[in-house]
Amino acid sequence: MDGRDLVRRVRLVGSVRGLRTVRSAWRRRSADARALPARGAERARVPGAATGAEPGPGGGVVRFARSELRIRVSVGGAVFWGWDGVEPLPSYGVVGEPPAPDERAVLEPGKDGGWQVVSERVRVVVSRTGVVELRTPGGVLLRRELPPRWWEPVDGGPVRWVQRSEVPADARFFGLGGRAGGPRLRDGVYGLWNTDPGGRFGPGDDPLYLTMPVQVVVSDAGTHLAFHDNTWAGRVVLREGEEGAGSGHDRPGTSEVRMEGGPLRCWVVAGTPARVLQGWTGLTGAPAVPPSWALGPQHARWGFGSEREVRRVVAGYRERGLPLAVLHLDIDHFDGHRVFTVDRERFPDLPSLAADLRAEGVRLVSIVDPAVKAEPGDAVFDAGRAVGERGAYVRDAQGRVVVGEVWPGPCVYPDFTDPVVREWWGSLYEERLAQGFSGVWHDMNEPVSFAAFGDPSLPRSARHVLEGAGGDHREAHNVYGLAMARAGYEGLLRLRPEERPFLFSRSGWVGMQRYGGTWSGDVSTGWPGLRASLSLVLGLGLCGVPYSGPDVGGFDGFPSPELYLRWFQLGAYLPLFRTHAAIDAGRREPWEFGTEVLQGARAALVERERLGPYFVTLSHLARSTGAPYVRPVWWGAPRDRALRECEDAFLLGDAVLVAPVLEPGARRRAVRLPRGRWYDAESGRAYEGPGQVVLDAPLSRVPVLVRAGAVIPVRGADGSLELEAWAPVAGRSGSGLVVRDPGDGWAAAEVERYVTRWKGDRVVVERDGVKGAVEARVRGLGLG
Ligand code: NOJ
Repeated sequence: MDGRDLVRRVRLVGSVRGLRTVRSAWRRRSADARALPARGAERARVPGAATGAEPGPGGGVVRFARSELRIRVSVGGAVFWGWDGVEPLPSYGVVGEPPAPDERAVLEPGKDGGWQVVSERVRVVVSRTGVVELRTPGGVLLRRELPPRWWEPVDGGPVRWVQRSEVPADARFFGLGGRAGGPRLRDGVYGLWNTDPGGRFGPGDDPLYLTMPVQVVVSDAGTHLAFHDNTWAGRVVLREGEEGAGSGHDRPGTSEVRMEGGPLRCWVVAGTPARVLQGWTGLTGAPAVPPSWALGPQHARWGFGSEREVRRVVAGYRERGLPLAVLHLDIDHFDGHRVFTVDRERFPDLPSLAADLRAEGVRLVSIVDPAVKAEPGDAVFDAGRAVGERGAYVRDAQGRVVVGEVWPGPCVYPDFTDPVVREWWGSLYEERLAQGFSGVWHDMNEPVSFAAFGDPSLPRSARHVLEGAGGDHREAHNVYGLAMARAGYEGLLRLRPEERPFLFSRSGWVGMQRYGGTWSGDVSTGWPGLRASLSLVLGLGLCGVPYSGPDVGGFDGFPSPELYLRWFQLGAYLPLFRTHAAIDAGRREPWEFGTEVLQGARAALVERERLGPYFVTLSHLARSTGAPYVRPVWWGAPRDRALRECEDAFLLGDAVLVAPVLEPGARRRAVRLPRGRWYDAESGRAYEGPGQVVLDAPLSRVPVLVRAGAVIPVRGADGSLELEAWAPVAGRSGSGLVVRDPGDGWAAAEVERYVTRWKGDRVVVERDGVKGAVEARVRGLGLG
């Protein structure tokens, strides 16, 4: 039991739910004790010496004394390798047919009795002992995978393995899904087991709700993403390297991936960050584009309590002239916390409430929890029992339905890894749509079963369908939220085919972006929580999930007015911009913190509204290119080491650099600039990068800079789209992409490219392929 466990235990045992959580934890433990015998004798194995090779499309198979290695370089440059001959499919992460093999890439004899596959983008070198190296076409090392080691139980069962890798000494690690302690992942152990930290978390808590075996590695040699395609429980140990470590020699950075079972296979995508993300979302699916209203300001709270309270909050926004696009209803609007129900005393007529709010431009979004109250007579519970031949719910190794403990009390869990269950579950969203909800918020889907001790989830021995292959929870746990997202997304699509579904989910895995986004979960209220909020969004974006954001203000407790405002200012530049808090936490409405905060929040909301068309553009570009809206400052210059170290600022698209204030009392802050000219969006003053500048950060705003030559679509005073252009450097030109909102359906989004250039002493803006200048508001003229 670690510290977190202890805190959870004390909190739960002390509550009314206490006894039941002890019972449920006990049930889980005994189920596993019965079904998962302690680890017995194991046989360790390494590949041994190479014995031969067989070329095949894009690579081939290298045979070793005790394993074989399949290598395939795809058109586009993504590299796959799998030990023990394993193939890329089936996979929860990789969708559709994997990219076609690059026919020109062939396995050929290399140095010292090894082999290599040379392609246009990468070179893969395999040694006689099973070292696999990924090099640039010029031969520079990006990643070296040492021969793996397996442990095979003598009496059968899952085979554990470890894969150690080396990366250049200057490399920095990012990714691994949502991590609070990043974005740069320092030396440490990172769990691969989606986990509800049980209350609130800060930068020291790991793992959290959404883990992924995906590392993004950035070094002078290049950028690459490595994905160990395996859903099992595992962990990654990272250690950054050191240049000139011992006697002048570099010590490489190391990664050690340890898995409790499942295949040892890996995809690597290398190139510029933009290329890597393009290749990555090509493999794992294009990000869903949220409807444009989901890019507006959102407000949530656990514990609105009644229709009256909801109307009061919405009126609060309206009366103060503050924009609001979405209001979320948490579990307190359910009847007895039971999913797909409504408490009719507190919310007598939800459809009318939804319609009234909709008329003033506010949508309702509903929480959806996966656990179903285990109570005969409950409509969802009964319907689930009748699904398929065995019912919809996860069973234990003895075939009994697993009962856990969640908000409604004893609960059962739909097995979303079963296609029939997904279809049934998706059909339940009809009730949510009929209540007037426009989107869904998936929660508690790690999945959680409250536990007084141990892992707050299902028994590891619980059985899952796993798309027909069958397996236990050790393999299914990490994809439970992903599969639930699929069920919800596909259900909404069947029910409202003409609209793009809006869904975001606390848990997930590789490929989550196909169905929607995610959010921070219960980030703790405090300055470390504010920092963790940015870390999560940046890390998830690099793993292919571009739409996310924190609970603005923090989940628990009472933020100081200053902290609340700084959080609000950060949130205004993140894709999901939503205030939220726990039932026992303080208020989060912008007017609850005094006049100065209200003014600052108003300014942030107004700017968010003004940037609406830019967010729409970024959402469509994320789909077509994989590039997240929110990017690390090194995105365009990964070789700039100072930028790689910068964790307190980010790029919003190509054009905007946001430097949030993450410290109490700060009224000025240092901002590290990438190469080129940057204008302070407030004063218009020009700064030249690369380098560091110190900018004013009064309580009323955070520093925001715009790249010289950029064209940004903004919302004008009359609501129409206007172009804001920033003067390029003299003698140079600049550009920007614009995607006009094609509506919330499936109409194709057209990408327009605009170019800025000097013409005499004027800056003109032209659209690619169209003659003549277009109208734009040009800024940055004669400044600097
Ligand atoms: C946990 C979620 O993380 C939080 O956002 C939500 O308010 C509570 N569950 C209650 O539903």
